[in-house]
Amino acid sequence: MRSPRDFFKPLALGAPQPLADIPVRPSRMIHFFDPSNPKMAEKAPSIASRVDILLGNMEDAVAIDNKEAAREGFIRIARENDFGDTQLWTRINSLDSPWFLDDIHRIVTEVGDKIDVIMLPKIQGAWDIHYADQLLAQLEARAGIQRPILLHCILETALGVANVESIANASPRIQGMSLGPADLAASRRMKTTRIGGGHPGYLVRDDPDADNPEAPRTAHQQDLWHYTIGRMVDACVSVGALPFYGPFGAIDDPTGCEDQFRNAFLMGCVGAWSLHPSQIDIAKTVFSPPADEVLWAKRVLEALPDGSGAVMVDGKMQDDASWKQCKVMVDLAKLIADSDPALKKAYGF
Ligand code: GLV
Ligand code: MG
Repeated sequence: MRSPRDFFKPLALGAPQPLADIPVRPSRMIHFFDPSNPKMAEKAPSIASRVDILLGNMEDAVAIDNKEAAREGFIRIARENDFGDTQLWTRINSLDSPWFLDDIHRIVTEVGDKIDVIMLPKIQGAWDIHYADQLLAQLEARAGIQRPILLHCILETALGVANVESIANASPRIQGMSLGPADLAASRRMKTTRIGGGHPGYLVRDDPDADNPEAPRTAHQQDLWHYTIGRMVDACVSVGALPFYGPFGAIDDPTGCEDQFRNAFLMGCVGAWSLHPSQIDIAKTVFSPPADEVLWAKRVLEALPDGSGAVMVDGKMQDDASWKQCKVMVDLAKLIADSDPALKKAYGF
């Protein structure tokens, strides 16, 4: 077992000291782009100004013949641009792929000081993180990087879900996790061919009417991802890391996308992936707390100034615990208001 004293020591001589706390910044959407696609690469700087996180993708959705072009394109874009407050992330290829070693080596040593987080796909257990953690430390030391690069895991295999707590606890580099519903469905042999979202067959139907057993019975579609998101949120938050919903592939279904993102927001996720520019505003709307909730939460905080005791606000009992719920809402609103003047006004800050 590793000594707790060593947990915050660098894993290589000359590597930066691991962070004790994960920086909490607006992270409502991780916008994916393919750096091997010249049109997308050209648009990256203008898209960056609209999103909280811009991610250059090297993994799935980039054709095998374009893997090297994606890597070169990302390095060029990272080198040539300063995206200001927008975080720059990359999703590299999986640890067992032929591209992983060159992806991580080239990106960290050439533009490691420009990137905040590396997203690792298909993480199976803590052993994957230990390998990436030490390798990153060696590369950071070689490149003279001052600020540790963080790791974000995609939860997209049955084994990864089974090991989610030990993955979250494997390293202080763990920034967060995303649900990967497409790979996860395949890994679990679920019978859905959709990328994220619900399925009309996954439902609960009302009981028959005893007086009229032949009457039509209403069915209610259920959320296929509820269990996994619940486990991911607990595993992440218990180590101070951030949980995200992943991709919603039906670009032509903005309503379904909004609903799925909102389920994840209500359960504790901080953001989701946007795979198309039309999903950026959906994520912005959903993952910014609603103004009426924020105004209400501010009233509760004012009604219990030291956060203890019990009072009634508009007929609803408030106490220490509901004060904390309201503080979550107000703290998130403040974080987002700092970079969004319209929301700042709506929240009354
Ligand atoms: C994302 O990578 C997924 O597999 O859903
Ligand atoms: Mg995947």
